[in-house]
Amino acid sequence: MLKHEDNELITRVGPGTPMGKMLREYWMPACRSASLVADGAPQRVRLVGENFVAYRVTDGSVGFIYEACPHRGASMALARNEHNGLRCIFHGWKIDACGKVVDCPAEPADTREAFATRQKVAHFPVREAGGMVWVYLGKQKEPPAFPEFEFNNLPDSHVCAQRGLVHYNWVQGLEAHIDASHVGILHSGFVNAKKPVGIAQKDLKLTTANAAPRTEMQVTNYGLREGALRDLGDGNTYARIREVVLPFFTFIPHAPDEPCSGRATVPIDDEWDAEWYILYDTKKPLTPEAIDLLFQGTSGDPDNFASNLGGPENLWYQDRASMISHFSGFPRSVPFEDFIIQESMGPRVDRSGEQLGRADVILVQVRRQLLDAVRNFEAGQPAPWNLTAEEYRSIRAIATTIPTSEPWTELNAIKAMHKQAAE
Ligand code: FES
Ligand SMILES: [Fe+2]
Repeated sequence: MLKHEDNELITRVGPGTPMGKMLREYWMPACRSASLVADGAPQRVRLVGENFVAYRVTDGSVGFIYEACPHRGASMALARNEHNGLRCIFHGWKIDACGKVVDCPAEPADTREAFATRQKVAHFPVREAGGMVWVYLGKQKEPPAFPEFEFNNLPDSHVCAQRGLVHYNWVQGLEAHIDASHVGILHSGFVNAKKPVGIAQKDLKLTTANAAPRTEMQVTNYGLREGALRDLGDGNTYARIREVVLPFFTFIPHAPDEPCSGRATVPIDDEWDAEWYILYDTKKPLTPEAIDLLFQGTSGDPDNFASNLGGPENLWYQDRASMISHFSGFPRSVPFEDFIIQESMGPRVDRSGEQLGRADVILVQVRRQLLDAVRNFEAGQPAPWNLTAEEYRSIRAIATTIPTSEPWTELNAIKAMHKQAAE
């Protein structure tokens, strides 16, 4: 459980809130790169309780400003995107990709240029990587080091990042990603299905064989590493080692021959969340089959693959008849099972009435880390968990079988993989 005031502290993200201020100090995925076409429609982006627009200008660079026009607040989502700038359709102010006002056509000709130069526009630094546009909304003059995760340094053909917009608070998203103990239960319909589901199918069988893994954690400088350990009874342990890179990212264990899988849970506001699913292969292009396996049953819209999720009014289209063979009654997709469970708790769950068990130990740990971080940040310390490029590159989750006598934290495979990834 979490005291009401602590729950408020970690779940409220709007302007001026302690968590909102801290989260703005991290680079966050905002929209898909491919959704921005040069001279095309600007995209509305809502993040941490504020409305922005992202736009790609003629020369290909991306601008990121508040949705409200700096003149009098008309929506810049309606603006014309013309010759290296976004032009408000109300009085024609034109803003370039660097956030500079370059024209104010309603002003008198003799002062127009000087007037335009004087105007200030809040404009935010962006980067494009992994098929996503990333933005830094924080207060520092210099943004923190860019998160150089493996997937941010691969050819486009090796990465597929899709976003789902879901009706719950970002901490619920994070908690779903780190909660290993539900895999063999909530997702058992997929794990036991004959058709593959694209998430370590053969290994996942082991998770249903033993739904109560021993969970151990190792706190790291980026958050934590969790080992969900299942004794196979033959002197070996099946270890699923998840990497949690706070505040937004979780890397899901996969077998060595399968694509890697990352998640980001990025707050849209207190009650809505952007769930980024990032599938990537460090060695070769992703196959259409691999992408289909992850996103099967979803909407097909990469900017919101959850648009066909349903809602409480229709119980997310639960198919009771299917429950004979599919545990949850949600046989459409694995991500949807997670989204639906989180939405079913309500848009911002009150954790003060929870009754947690030993299987929930990771939630307790991560909440403690979030609370410590936000309190320290309020007390003037820098935001934690920002890493060097090398450190970001070395993060990868794995699922593997190891001798029970070998401590999972010393796993040679992890070390070798990290070393290889960092090279
Ligand atoms: S409100 Fe945009 S130019 Fe006036
Ligand atoms: Fe899940």
